[in-house]
Amino acid sequence: MKISTTIDQELGEKVHFVLTQAFPEGLPEGFSPSVVKTADARNGDYQCNDAMALAKALRKNPREIAAKLVEGLTDPEMLDSVEVAGPGFINFRLNPAWTARRLLAMDLEETRGTPAVGGGKTVVIDYSSPNVAKPMHIGHIRSTVIGNALDRLHRFCGYTVISDNHLGDWGTQFGLILLGYRHFLNADALAASPVQELERIYVASYQKSKEDESWLESARQELVKLQQGDPENRALWEKFVTLSLGEFEKIYRRLDVRFDLHRGESFYNDDLAGVLERLEAAGLLVESEGAQVVDLEADKLGICIVRKRDGGFNYATTDLATVFSRVREFNPETILYVTDERQQRHFKQFFTVCEKLGEEVSLQHVWFGLMRLPEGTFSTRQGNVIKLEVLLDEAERRALEMVKTSSPEMPEAQQREVARAVGIGALKYADLSQNPQSLVTFTWEKAMALDGNSAPYLQYAHARIRSVLDKHAAQFPADDVDAASPAAELPAEQVLALKAVQFPEAVLGAARHYRPNYLADYLYELAQNYSTYHQSVPFLKSEDGVRESRMRLIRSVADTLKAGLGLLGIEAPERI
Ligand code: ARG
Repeated sequence: MKISTTIDQELGEKVHFVLTQAFPEGLPEGFSPSVVKTADARNGDYQCNDAMALAKALRKNPREIAAKLVEGLTDPEMLDSVEVAGPGFINFRLNPAWTARRLLAMDLEETRGTPAVGGGKTVVIDYSSPNVAKPMHIGHIRSTVIGNALDRLHRFCGYTVISDNHLGDWGTQFGLILLGYRHFLNADALAASPVQELERIYVASYQKSKEDESWLESARQELVKLQQGDPENRALWEKFVTLSLGEFEKIYRRLDVRFDLHRGESFYNDDLAGVLERLEAAGLLVESEGAQVVDLEADKLGICIVRKRDGGFNYATTDLATVFSRVREFNPETILYVTDERQQRHFKQFFTVCEKLGEEVSLQHVWFGLMRLPEGTFSTRQGNVIKLEVLLDEAERRALEMVKTSSPEMPEAQQREVARAVGIGALKYADLSQNPQSLVTFTWEKAMALDGNSAPYLQYAHARIRSVLDKHAAQFPADDVDAASPAAELPAEQVLALKAVQFPEAVLGAARHYRPNYLADYLYELAQNYSTYHQSVPFLKSEDGVRESRMRLIRSVADTLKAGLGLLGIEAPERI
């Protein structure tokens, strides 16, 4: 059986079918029932609360509608029971044998039964997007980690994803950097840590421009020269971009992040004049205090400046050009932008302008709050800029300590490899397991906790299962786990199998709502259910037949954990 839909969806369709049969006079327009997981397992596995609203619309008694549903929803293969509760809630309980078969079917599919809802539609995901000649700050790190999870989730759900690193590689700061580079460069420092040196140069040049009017003027001239294609400035600028990108790449490699495109702002430079023409033609361009703007007062969004008084274009102008270019080239259904919350107004503004221009692509700003860093957590430099490498090193160092304690017998090289997966995983997960829009405080204790909602906890659960499976294989080489069907006798087994078959729902929820934490929550619950099971039954001491089916169940759980972690960009080592 090829899985074509999720369980909640399948039940919803059944409900819909029964209702159309029971009420041939017709259902209210636009009505589509929804079946959701129950919050409390005592009420069943899934529930439908639509009878009440439907009763109102049809002028009927909700219990009568519920009764019709119960009567029509007989499917003993899939459902153990369908019951009415309270004023007309319908509670469903799945047949554990059905759930076990579902799990077998999931094991056969690479996406573990996740329907390809993307259907090949294209999504552009604009994430990470740091600025050249400046170190990545915490906002870029979060954007990288969250954006990459959304990237993986969408590909998994059958979307064609174009990931684009929209580097800040153009703009007024380059005048100051060019000038500063010629006066303040320390070549050794540049060789040792290019971005840090470029930033130092920028800061020094900026300071000087505050005190020295002629310096500022020279910087402006350098910028104009760059924009007009002066070969010397152009070559230097390219060098800045290459050096910065090289350093960013080191971090991307460590985080296992890859982009399809690295199109910085400069890529759209030649399109900017066209943006103004298009706005003009649409009657949207007005002049305000010498600048060219789009008036968004009526939308309560102020004014959006597209050309400054001095003739320079703005961040919004580039973003408009970028939308037009992406639409032309990729025809995406959606463009996602992952940045911190401080840019909300910018995105609202240019999204609104796009709408006024009749662009049909769905533009979504996926914003996140800033993560709070308790004093002393990270090595910070002035201005609260975190050296990301230092952070990654620290994570791996802490993880190595952990691995050395848990697996002292493991060869050192392997310990390091595992520590890398655990350390980087812990950092990513600390970010991804939070509601991105809530304010969180990062602590190492929480990120590395072996007994809480952390990557190491999930990785440990996964490795623990693999080790049971290995022991089993060594002790019972004749057991055929592939031929066994997952254990579904004990309540703990039924709970675990049910959780495991809900993987696709968690994946789709996370992708649809741009909330990787939905998947993280799910994985945590799955690991907890496993832990309960692990403590409640003997594995290797259970009797013939039962033993294989238990192995089959936990193997599916391990595969599910691994797949889920993979979607968050986190590795699941076989041993910890
Ligand atoms: N470079 C920007 C920054 O560091 C982020 C760019 C986000 N993407 C975009 N298309 N505006 O703040």
